[in-house]
Amino acid sequence: MSARRLLVTSALPYANGPIHIGHLVEYIQTDIWVRFQKLRGHRCVYVCADDTHGTAIMIRARQEGRSEEELIAEMQRQHERDFAAFDIRFDNYGSTNSPENRRVCHEIWAALRREDLIVEKSVSQLYDPEAGTFLADRFVRGTCPRCGRPDQPGDSCQCGATYSPVDLIDPVSVHSGARPEIREATHLFVQLARLHDFLVEWTQCGQHLQPEVANYLKGHFLHEPLKDWDISRPAPYFGFEIPDSPGNYWYVWFDAPIGYIGSSQQWCDRHGEQLDDWWRNEQTEIHHFIGKDITYFHTLFWPGMLKVAGFQLPTKVHIHGFLTVGGEKMSKSKGTFVKASTYLKHLDPAYLRYYYASKLGSRLDDIDLNLDEFAAKVNADLVGKVVNLASRSAKFVETTGLSATYPDDGGLFENAAAVGDEIAEAYEVCDYGRAMRLVMELADRANPYVEAAAPWNLRKDATQAKQLQDVCTVALNLFRQLAIYLAPVLPRLAEQTGRLLNRPIEHWDDSKSPLLGSPVAKFEHMLIRLDKKDIDRMIEESRETDSPETPPAPAFEDSGQPLLDEPLAEQCTIDDFAKVDLRIARIVEAEEIPEARKLLKLTVSLGGDERRTVFAGIKSAYQPQDLVGRLVVVVANLAPRQMKFGLSQGMVTAAGSGGVDIFLLSPDSGAKPGQRVH
Ligand code: MSP
Ligand code: ZN
Repeated sequence: MSARRLLVTSALPYANGPIHIGHLVEYIQTDIWVRFQKLRGHRCVYVCADDTHGTAIMIRARQEGRSEEELIAEMQRQHERDFAAFDIRFDNYGSTNSPENRRVCHEIWAALRREDLIVEKSVSQLYDPEAGTFLADRFVRGTCPRCGRPDQPGDSCQCGATYSPVDLIDPVSVHSGARPEIREATHLFVQLARLHDFLVEWTQCGQHLQPEVANYLKGHFLHEPLKDWDISRPAPYFGFEIPDSPGNYWYVWFDAPIGYIGSSQQWCDRHGEQLDDWWRNEQTEIHHFIGKDITYFHTLFWPGMLKVAGFQLPTKVHIHGFLTVGGEKMSKSKGTFVKASTYLKHLDPAYLRYYYASKLGSRLDDIDLNLDEFAAKVNADLVGKVVNLASRSAKFVETTGLSATYPDDGGLFENAAAVGDEIAEAYEVCDYGRAMRLVMELADRANPYVEAAAPWNLRKDATQAKQLQDVCTVALNLFRQLAIYLAPVLPRLAEQTGRLLNRPIEHWDDSKSPLLGSPVAKFEHMLIRLDKKDIDRMIEESRETDSPETPPAPAFEDSGQPLLDEPLAEQCTIDDFAKVDLRIARIVEAEEIPEARKLLKLTVSLGGDERRTVFAGIKSAYQPQDLVGRLVVVVANLAPRQMKFGLSQGMVTAAGSGGVDIFLLSPDSGAKPGQRVH
């Protein structure tokens, strides 16, 4: 196979917050893929950068009494330090606030103008007169126009209503507490609709996106003309000023993806390479790794920009799901919102790299970090099956080294060498879970060999010296194969193995031929057992009792919603449907059942005195206190069911696949408890 040339990116983390274990899913996923490609002998360049622009940074810098540049420089140092500690190794780590990025922004902008894709429109937006800035939706809070709940964010309420911040009752700016004014300003828009045919072709051709992503785009965006995209913000704004529109700045999501190219430019400059060889060359594959919340930007807007400006389009956009901890959203009050830096104080980064690898597949499913499973898996697999092979055999060959010819091992080495292709294929398609299972199956074959040969007994008998050396030669070569296959995930283990056996691991195919006659160094301990107490300490340190939950990340429209379309059920008649009596109900009580993993106990009112107790499997997505008072839709004539915690007299309807992906249905305002849904 000839060497491929690959340019790989991870999403650019926002400069306004620390790296946490949710982010790490993505950076570890990408780093593994990059290390895998390099180990296969391909040319692979991995670039990333901090995403620095926007009002959040501007306001925070002001509050802290320093310049934005100073603030983003400090955040970048922290980010780079955290990434390095997790062995995430970028070839270049830049910033969207760099001269290189500005130049590429100008270039792409000029192309958009040349194609006449930019239009101006007047936009009314809330403006904070005290802070002197326009307010993005999430920086406004107020009373929900639908249900009257106070202190709701500017775009949506806990009751499920979505609205424009202009419609909020008694809005306040979160920056200053001032009452915002409505101001008009001119914004610049990209007419994405003109790229519609191209985007349909590019997203639906089956080459670049996971099938569920292509379907999602077709169903949610491409079924109608694409809306014009607002890509400018009026001053004051921390960003790049638009060259032909003074006083207006590019919206952060314009220059953020361009940061991939800006960072590549820096790498090229340092290595005497030409940017066009990487970004305007069909021989180069471009691979983006992102989370599902930013799908829209990377699969519609970004390919559109690249196309217009004559850059190479992404070969693949690899999209992953979100991290949950114990089946729930990361939570500051529960201590599961763990910063990378806090993790590092308590646990070895290799543990998390391996655990995430074992959980990651090629699809977009969310990834659950189950803390008990985490400890059990690391200890059973890495310590118990892999490192054990070396620790039980290396010390017996410290003086003799490995045998000069490979002993008969019943075909173990040859078999493991043959499985290498399958493991490689799993890495290639990002199915690391499968790769890890295949590696552990090999470990499960190697360990019984060592058990049966029992080198610790052979060493007691001087006449068995040759046999001892042979057994250890087999054990260490089988161990080395595992270390090679795990090298993308566990680079430190690979280095230690290289030192132990006096031969660095340099290529995937090193797994095909055994090491013979080489000296064996003194065994240094490799990975130690994960102590569950360290996890507890980490959670304890992450617990913030007095701080409110961070609101969910500002998603773009419905871009964070489940992407998997469930097949339709069999056709039914109107009479079939009429058998199901759906009613509007108000939740009057909601209780936690501590012993139940998924259930909340709800008391719902169907109007008047008609009350029902319903057990709903929504605990992972809703807090009881947020439910009281809201309207839901219940199946009112469902046969009562005796459950472990009591009698359930109906069912609350919800969409979604479970975990944090659960969405209760609610009626438009005006509906009353007891009304039937037809
Ligand atoms: N700045 C934008 C990306 C710009 S790319 C041109 C951004 N930043 S982020 O810091 O919020 O997220 C960075 C990446 O981490 C995104 O791909 C996001 O999906 C991912 N994750 C952030 N939190 C996550 C989890 N809890 N779980 C998994 N991935 C998560 O978005
Ligand atoms: Zn509301």
